[in-house]
Amino acid sequence: MSIFQWAQNPWGQEILIRISWDLLYLAIAGGLAFVIGHLVYRAKNPPKTAEVPDIGDAGKDIPEKIVRHSLAARLFHWVMAITMITLLVTAFFPILGIQFNWVPIHWMAGIVLTAAIIFHIIHASFWLNLRNIWISRQDWAEWKQEMEHALGKGEPPPKTDKYPVDHRIYHNAILVTGFGVIVTGLLMMVRVENLIFARNSYLLAESTWGWVYVIHGLSAVGLVGLIITHIYFAILPEKRWITKSMIWGWITKKDYLANHDPERWVVTDKASK
Ligand code: HEM
Repeated sequence: MSIFQWAQNPWGQEILIRISWDLLYLAIAGGLAFVIGHLVYRAKNPPKTAEVPDIGDAGKDIPEKIVRHSLAARLFHWVMAITMITLLVTAFFPILGIQFNWVPIHWMAGIVLTAAIIFHIIHASFWLNLRNIWISRQDWAEWKQEMEHALGKGEPPPKTDKYPVDHRIYHNAILVTGFGVIVTGLLMMVRVENLIFARNSYLLAESTWGWVYVIHGLSAVGLVGLIITHIYFAILPEKRWITKSMIWGWITKKDYLANHDPERWVVTDKASK
């Protein structure tokens, strides 16, 4: 297995051109191995229905439907999902042997994804709470506790605030790989026929272009593994209450009390409306 692909330039020098597509097969195999491993673990340790605690009078003011994702956040999520799948299919199907004119569809989906991410950054900076996605030292400690508990050691971690720490780790992995494909993809636009940027293959030195393609490819194969696991968790029966909230926007009071600590994710009646 190799990591990079090299080619000879007109002067006979070896230059880096992109990652080796062996890494694509490795990412697919890694994603599927994780899913199979988790299914086996899940069969041996069936998920328990989370208990709904009785919090007495404190529960009186909690509404029956609790808003988890605003309409803007849900629209962003589904635009991102559609463009990501389009980008993956257009980029990787030709590599897997299904040939078609993929480049125009690919860069157009890339521009829509870029616009959606710019929207998300503005929306999150002014309307959402950035602390919900930040990972503190306490979160890392609770994640360690969660992993140890999953392996049969120690107590389960305390209930979470709005987003469990594994969701936040996932968000940050998407942030790194997403920026990786976007920044390099925008640069690569000048190498292909398109309606936005003039063609200029000499914008960067030959070897720098090699690294741009390498970062694009590495981020892209990273996204393959991340998206396989994301879709897997989203369809698991015990996680469907979360998936439904990305469609309808809300969760039930029962799911809220069973899975969240009301003191860490404080739900006010105002927020739920
Ligand atoms: C899920 C996100 C993405 C994935 C999985 C992905 C994947 C890929 C792959 C595997 C290639 C082939 C690279 C090579 O030949 O070394 C490629 C090329 C390319 N991508 Fe992406 N990409 C993504 C996002 C983007 C974005 C956001 C843009 C633009 C803003 C973009 C623009 C391009 C361009 C212009 C090319 C070059 C096509 C060529 O050289 O013929 N990509 N992409």
